[in-house]
Amino acid sequence: MVAEQSVRLTSEEEAMLRGSLGEGARKAMEIIVALARVYEARELIPVASAQVAGVSYTNLGDAGLDFLWGWRDAGAKACIPSMLNPAGMDLLAWEDLGIPRTFAHKQHMVVQAYEAIGIQLTCTCTPYLVGNVPAFGQHLAWSESSAVSFANSVLGARTNREGGPSALASAMVGRTAKYGLHLDRCRLALRRIDVRCRVSSLSDFGALGYLVGQRVANGVPYFCFRDAPWRETAWEFGELPPEPSLSALKQLGAALAASGAVALYHVDGATPEARMSDMLAPDAKKVTIEDLSGGYAALNGPVEHIDLVCIGCPHASLDEIRWVSELLEGEEVVSDLWVTTARSTREEAVSQGLVARIEAAGGLVVADTCLVVSPMKMLDYHTLATNSAKMAFYAPSHVGMQVRFGSLERCIRAATTGKWEG
Ligand code: F3S
Repeated sequence: MVAEQSVRLTSEEEAMLRGSLGEGARKAMEIIVALARVYEARELIPVASAQVAGVSYTNLGDAGLDFLWGWRDAGAKACIPSMLNPAGMDLLAWEDLGIPRTFAHKQHMVVQAYEAIGIQLTCTCTPYLVGNVPAFGQHLAWSESSAVSFANSVLGARTNREGGPSALASAMVGRTAKYGLHLDRCRLALRRIDVRCRVSSLSDFGALGYLVGQRVANGVPYFCFRDAPWRETAWEFGELPPEPSLSALKQLGAALAASGAVALYHVDGATPEARMSDMLAPDAKKVTIEDLSGGYAALNGPVEHIDLVCIGCPHASLDEIRWVSELLEGEEVVSDLWVTTARSTREEAVSQGLVARIEAAGGLVVADTCLVVSPMKMLDYHTLATNSAKMAFYAPSHVGMQVRFGSLERCIRAATTGKWEG
């Protein structure tokens, strides 16, 4: 090991810092070492994969585009499996969504830069649903908050919530700073959450995540459910849980990371680390959740007419797409309906006839994108219904839409009536 100020670097890392792998990797290593100093990490750690946020041209603008093309021109190349977060539009069917051509051109330039750097164009916040399932204990550099939460909590992998540039830098050098959730001691829960009410629908899990995220901020909560239908579900370490637990935990983690900054949670008897050892600190503070009505109340605005219904935040699994198609059987939508998902999940849904069934009812299954990072202000949508607490939380501030939040069944009813009823 060679000393690099307070951060110990291996000889290979030192060489990268001197430019042995080219200018792109040199710049990337500078970023990683700078972050290590900021977070007082003593060393770097190899990571198995990177998940890179900062893809939508809505958020990047021309400055971000120039930044990416600068990396590309410096010959930067990913050296580990690296995936992309959702873009600002469906990369193929953008015209069907009404995306302006000028925006589409810029968005394609963003994606081309990432492709040249060697990032897989997965364009999803659920990379674990499209073949990138991290192994238990594996270290990662992922950046999208719900993906980070899922990888840490449900799969038992280890990642901090990286920023877009730091995840990109990790993709190029295969390292991240060793601090935070890479360390055993930071994975211990300091809050015990006793859930005394029934939590059954996906939106219930989102409402619960919203309430707890507000209470614990960036802490690690340990959930003890008195009455959750899926609490007994167990799955192999490093494997995805079966539905409906997968979707429920996806909603829980996404909401925890939205209203708070929770990047890891444990569920007693269910999530892998909670099954392996005692992850609850002896002096953990106790929070009791008696009912979810406060979460629903906070995430619902006073709107009745619904312009758009969006399902698939985080990106929909194949089963979720199937549930939507079943609820639409014999129905026709009045509002617009988007089911957002990863492209390869959409392709699988096409092959199973699910997309055709949703389209027959007038809905769309949209790939590569997420409403929250789409240029919605250009699309003349003002009101939204969703079963995702995360989307309900962000849509008012990020895309200026008024929101209704409730169960999948209620959202589909809003799509077929144009109204939020009751
Ligand atoms: Fe994914 Fe967008 Fe929701 S990135 S988690 S669909 S806000």
